[in-house]
Amino acid sequence: MSCEKAYITTPIYYVNDIAHIGHAYTTIIADTLARYSRLSGLDTYFLTGTDEHGQKIEEAAKSRGKSTQNYADEISATFKDLWDEFDISYDKFIRTTDMDHMKGVQKAFSVMHANGDIYKDTYKGHYCISCETFFPAIQLVDDEFCPECGKSTTVVEEESYFFKLSKYEKPLLDWYENNPDCILPRSKRNEVIRFVEGGLQDLSITRTSFDWGVKLPKEMNDPKHVMYVWLDALMNYVTALGYGTDDKDMDYWPARVQLIGKDILRFHAIYWPAFLMSLGLPLPKHIAAHGWWTRDGEKMSKSKGNVVNPREIADAYGLDNFRYFMLREVPFGGDGDFSQKALIDRINSDLGNDLGNLLNRLIGMSGKYFEGTVNSEHVATYYQNELDEVHASLEKLEPFIFEMQIHRYLEELWKPLTVANKAIDRYQPWTLMKEGKEEEAMALNGLIAAILAKVSVMLYPVMPEICTKISNALHFSIDNESWKKMIKSTTLLNTFVLEKIDPLFPRIEKPLLEQIEPIDQETEPKASKKPEIKENEKAQGVALIGIDQFFQTSLKIGTVVKAEEVPKSKKLLLLQVDIGEESPRQVVAGIKEWYTAADMLGTQVCVVANLKPAKLMGLKSEGMLLAAKDENGLCMIRPEQPKTVGTPIS
Ligand code: MSP
Repeated sequence: MSCEKAYITTPIYYVNDIAHIGHAYTTIIADTLARYSRLSGLDTYFLTGTDEHGQKIEEAAKSRGKSTQNYADEISATFKDLWDEFDISYDKFIRTTDMDHMKGVQKAFSVMHANGDIYKDTYKGHYCISCETFFPAIQLVDDEFCPECGKSTTVVEEESYFFKLSKYEKPLLDWYENNPDCILPRSKRNEVIRFVEGGLQDLSITRTSFDWGVKLPKEMNDPKHVMYVWLDALMNYVTALGYGTDDKDMDYWPARVQLIGKDILRFHAIYWPAFLMSLGLPLPKHIAAHGWWTRDGEKMSKSKGNVVNPREIADAYGLDNFRYFMLREVPFGGDGDFSQKALIDRINSDLGNDLGNLLNRLIGMSGKYFEGTVNSEHVATYYQNELDEVHASLEKLEPFIFEMQIHRYLEELWKPLTVANKAIDRYQPWTLMKEGKEEEAMALNGLIAAILAKVSVMLYPVMPEICTKISNALHFSIDNESWKKMIKSTTLLNTFVLEKIDPLFPRIEKPLLEQIEPIDQETEPKASKKPEIKENEKAQGVALIGIDQFFQTSLKIGTVVKAEEVPKSKKLLLLQVDIGEESPRQVVAGIKEWYTAADMLGTQVCVVANLKPAKLMGLKSEGMLLAAKDENGLCMIRPEQPKTVGTPIS
C-alpha cells in the first residue's frame, strides 16, 4: 500500500547574495514541516536549491570579474553548506543550472507552445533587474523607479515570446474561490484575488538582451532568446521531480506546501498556477507566504550593514534555540523583529523556565527518592485528570502545522508543560514522600516523564537536537512508532533509569554578541561597508580613517565635453567627462533638478574615478561627481581656477 505523500518546497535562492536570516527563516519553517510530516508517517520529499540564471546574476558575476558559472557555483555552495551545517533535512538541492532542470524547462515551453499559450510579439516597457520583473510605465515611481525595490529600472524594447496569462484570469479566480486555503494566510489570498480581478496582462517570458538563461527548445529555432528567469525558476518545483526528463518522482506532485516570502507571492500565486494549468498539471495544495524580518526595528539591508547572519546567531545561542525563537516569536504571515533581547527572553523563559527546568526537576525528584528510576505503572490511578488535559492539547496540534499556524502549535504544546510544572507544585513529591505515599510520588515521576516525552516528540520538528537529547535521557527514540504510541494513543513510558544530563538551557544574563557582524559579503562591493565608529570617534559622529584609506579613492579634475538629458528621467543627466584618459568617461548624474545639460557643458567637475561601473536606467555610469546638497539645493564642487583634466585631487 503506498502511503500518503507530502512534497514540501522552499523558494530557490538567488545566488547574488549570501544566506541571511530571511533565507534561514523560510528554510527552517520548511524543514519543520518536512520533519513533522515524516514523523507522522507521510512519504515526504523536501526540496530546496538555488536560482542561478538571469540578468541580475550575470551582472553580479561580471562586477566581480568572475565567470557566471564559477560565480554561481561558489555562491550556490555557500547555501548548501549552510543548510548542511544547520542539518536541514532536504531530499534534493536543485540548481537551475542543472542539465535536467534546463531540459525540463524546455519541455514545459514546448508543451505550453503546443497548447497555444505562447505567441511572439515585441515587449516595450521597463524592467527591474534587481526584482527580475517587468513593469508597465504607469506602475513606476517618478516614471523611472521600481515600485517594489525603489531601484532604477531599465527601458526594454525587444522581441519576446508571451505567455497568455490573460486567458487564465477566470480559471485562477475559480481556483482561489474553490480552495479557500490554497494561499495561506487567507488574508494574502484576498490580496491576490483583488489583484487578479483588476485584470491580467500577458506575460513576457523570453529575453534577447543577455544570454545567461535557458535557451528555447530546438524546434523553436530561435537561438537569440533565453527564458525569463521566473519561468525557469518556478519550473524547478516539478523538474526536481523529473518533469520533462524521467518523471521519476512526479507522483509527489502536487506539493502539499510551497513556502515563500510575501514578496514573491504574485509569482507563486498567479504565474505559477497559470503555468501549471497550461501544462495540464494539478495545482499545489497550499502556497504559504511568510512575512519579513527586520532587525532591532529597522529594515535589514546590506548598505546599512545590519543584515543578520544566521550562522553567527546559531553559533552563539544554539541552532535549536534560534529555530524555536523564529517560529514562536512571529505569527506566520506577520513581520518579525530580530533582537538579541527578544531571543534571550524566549530562551530564558519558555525554554529555560518551562522546559529545561521541568527536566531538571524530574532528574532531581527521581534521583533523590528513587535512584533515578521512573515507573509509569500507577500514573493513571493518581493523575488521570492531568493526563486528559495533556492529551486534549496534543490532539489539537496537528492541524496547526499544516495550516501554517506554527506559533499556535508551539503555544498549545506549552500547555502540557504547564500542567506538569503545576502538578509538581500542587502534589509536592517531598510531601508525598514524607507522608509515606511512595507509590503516588513515583506516579508523579511517571507523569512528568510522560509529559516531557510527549512534548519532546511534538517539539522535535522544531528543535530536533534538543529533543533527541531529552528522548535519550528518557530512554526512547523519536520516530513514527513513538509518535503513534504517545501522541495518537495514550501510551506512557516503560520503566527506565533516567540519565542525568547537563542543563539544556543555561540562563543567559546578557547579550552574547557584543555586536552582530554584518555577513562577510565576499559578494558585495567592499565600498558599501560602513566603517565602524570607535568609542573615541563618537564625538565627531563619523568614523576616522587613515590617510591610506583616503588615498584609496581616486579623485580627479574633469571637463564635461558632452551633456544631454536622459529621456524619461526627471533626475538624470548623461555626461561625457574628460579626465585625461583615452576617451571621456560616461557619467550618469542625478542633478537634473538643479542643472540643465547646457549648464554643465564645458564646466569643470571633480570626479570619483575608481568606482565600480554601475547602471542607471540601463546606462552605464563610470564615475561620480562631487556635489554638496543642503536645504537650499545642490551645487557642484569645482576647482577655484581651471585645472588640467586628470589632475589628481588630494
Ligand atoms: N529566486 C527567487 C525565488 C524563486 S522561487 C521559484 C527569490 N530569491 S531570494 O533569494 O531573493 O529570496 C528567497 C526568499 O527569501 C524569499 O521567500 C524571500 O521572501 C525571503 N527573504 C529575503 N529577505 C527576507 C527577510 N528579510 N525576511 C524574511 N524573508 C525574506 O526571490
